[in-house]
This record gives sequence, C-alpha cells and structure tokens, in this order.
Amino acid sequence: MADEHFLITGALGCIGAWTVRNLVREDVPVTVFDLATEPRRLQLLLLDDELAQVNFAAGDIADLPAFERALDDNGITHVIHLAGLQVPFCKADPPLGARVNVVGTVNVFEAVKRRKDRMGKVVYASSVAVFGAPEDYAPGQVMRDDSALMPHTHYGVYKQANEGTAHVYWLDEGVSSVGFRPYVVYGVGRDQGMTSTPTTAMLAAAANLPYRISYGGRTVFQYADDTARAFIQAARADYAGAGAFNLGGFAPEMQEVKDAIDRAAPQAADKIAFEDIQLPFPQEVDGSGLEAAIGALSHTPLTQGVGETVALFRELIDAGKIDPQTYIADRL
Ligand SMILES: NC(=O)c1ccc[n+]([C@@H]2O[C@H](COP(=O)([O-])OP(=O)(O)OC[C@H]3O[C@@H](n4cnc5c(N)ncnc54)[C@H](O)[C@@H]3O)[C@@H](O)[C@H]2O)c1
Repeated sequence: MADEHFLITGALGCIGAWTVRNLVREDVPVTVFDLATEPRRLQLLLLDDELAQVNFAAGDIADLPAFERALDDNGITHVIHLAGLQVPFCKADPPLGARVNVVGTVNVFEAVKRRKDRMGKVVYASSVAVFGAPEDYAPGQVMRDDSALMPHTHYGVYKQANEGTAHVYWLDEGVSSVGFRPYVVYGVGRDQGMTSTPTTAMLAAAANLPYRISYGGRTVFQYADDTARAFIQAARADYAGAGAFNLGGFAPEMQEVKDAIDRAAPQAADKIAFEDIQLPFPQEVDGSGLEAAIGALSHTPLTQGVGETVALFRELIDAGKIDPQTYIADRL
C-alpha cells in the first residue's frame, strides 16, 4: 500500500467524494480528476486538514492527453473511473453524454493500456441502467450479471457500450477491469441523478421540512460509503478479466425507506412522502458475482445507513454548511 497513488475520475461527485474520504483516512495519496473545480461534496465529507491532503488535477475525461498527463505527473498506480453524466443530463444532451460517458471511458482504458507495466486494472462505474424494466423480464426475475441487457435510456446504452469496451481491451490488450453496476446509491453528497430524491428526503427530514420522493416501488439501495469501499477493494483485488458485475444491496419497498427515515427523524414523519412509480429498472439484482471476484463487501443495514445520513445532515445544517431550503429548492 505504501506505493499506491489512486486517481479518481469524477471524484467531486457523490461516490467519488466518499472514495476520496476513505482513501485519505487510510493515508493513501489520492488525486482528484474532475471537470468541475468546486469541491463542495468533499467539503461536506472531509475535515479541512483531510481536504488539504488531496491533490487536484482539473480536466476533461474526454481529453486523452490531459488525462494521461494527470496519470504521469502524479505517478498514478490505480484508477477508479467514476466521471460521467447521469440519466437526465444524457437525455437532455445525448451527444455530450456520449462524449463524456463513452469516449471518456475509452480514454481511460487507452491510457491504462499504454501504462500496463506500472498500472493495475481499471475499475469503473457502469450502472443497473444497462438492464431493462421489470416487465422486460419474467415476473420476479432477479438480474444476474449475465441477464439480458435492454437499456431504456441513452445513459444505459452508453454504460452498455463501456462494458463492451472493457471486454475488448481485455481480449485485445490484456487490460483487466472490474465494472460495477450500482443502483440507488444514497448518502450525503447524493444530490443529482434520477435516483437521488430519497437522499434529499433524508436531508428534508433532518431539517423538518416537507418533501416528496419522485418515485416508489422496489429498488436496490446502496450506502455511498459501502459503495466507495467496494470500488477501492476492487482496485486492490487480485482479479484478471473484464467482469461487469451487479452491485448487491438491500431491495426495500420505498415504504421501508420512508420507515427508516421516520425512525431517524420522527418529528418529520408526516412531512415525507413518495410517488407510487416504479423506475424502469429491475426490482432485484444478484450481486454474488462481484463478491466472488473481489471478496466479501460491506452492506450497512438500511436503518443504520439512513440513520447515519440523517445525523450527518443535521450536523452539516447546524454547522451552516448546508442551507436546507436552498438545497431542496434546487432539487425539486
Ligand atoms: N449514484 C448512483 O446511484 C449511481 C448508480 C449507478 C451508476 N452510477 C455511476 O457512478 C458514477 C459516479 O456516480 P455519482 O453519483 O458519484 O455521480 P455524480 O453525478 O455525483 O458525479 C459525477 C462527476 O463526474 C464529473 N464529470 C462530469 N463530466 C466530466 C468530464 N467530462 N470530465 C471529468 N469529470 C466529469 C462531474 O463534475 C461530477 O463531479 C457515474 O459514472 C454514475 O453514472 C451512479
């Protein structure tokens, strides 16, 4: 571990910020590669002296030479590739979505291929959005890693392309990779994307404000801290191949999520509600393939993860680091 230097693309995003936090707390050198420059999520999750240990290399993942410079200038050994535009942004501007999500991922593989002698595998975020809607499969079917991919969104199509890119870099060049298909990641810092509204409800409950989650039904919930740890674990795992794996977790009905929020903030129980709309993604996934490949993963119980999230939101509100009214208004 002494020689490790991680570079996280999209590290100013939610999962990235949790990944940086975990690495800094292990005293591992970490470089942030992100188009954005405002480290607002890192400021929510790291203490000032922890933030001071982070190295920043601003850049566009669609710019291969800039990304290669960041790898070489910092002696990077491990890459976790999280940079990407989420479902609503890809829908609003598909060419830009393809440039960032598809070309950006090809760039990551190409750069690592050129440095195979000194770099480990590529660990990257795919998504559960590579699958279709529940009605595309047999009733009650649990998605396995090799279940048919039938994306309903541009975003899902781009993620599917990335899994193909990973496979071809393994076949042609021997570049290993681990692709993750997260589902509903929740936790402080999760403030954009179509599945971010349960986290906004946790913030609203902490602030005792009304909020309606934009969907319901049954989905798989993953605590951002667990997800970040899993990415780091994959980067260190002794794995050869190009697996694209489901990320497991709990598969609660939205009512169970609301119950967990109510338990953490009972005074706001009558203020939090949700729409009864099932997302166009499967209800349940089998995450055993990933754990067989990289080892057992942490799955924080939903009530605990929600409780920690509400408690951290309370602290941040009390410290004046989040203004809940503005935060919610920006995300309605
Ligand atoms: N959060 C989830 O529930 C979830 C679920 C499935 C998959 N994923 C995937 O996991 C990854 C991380 O998710 P997140 O929730 O942290 O996302 P996020 O939207 O919070 O962060 C994405 C980051 O990528 C950066 N970025 C955008 N364009 C860039 C570019 N051209 N060059 C460099 N950086 C760029 C953004 O500035 C941002 O900091 C994404 O690839 C996402 O598609 C997330």
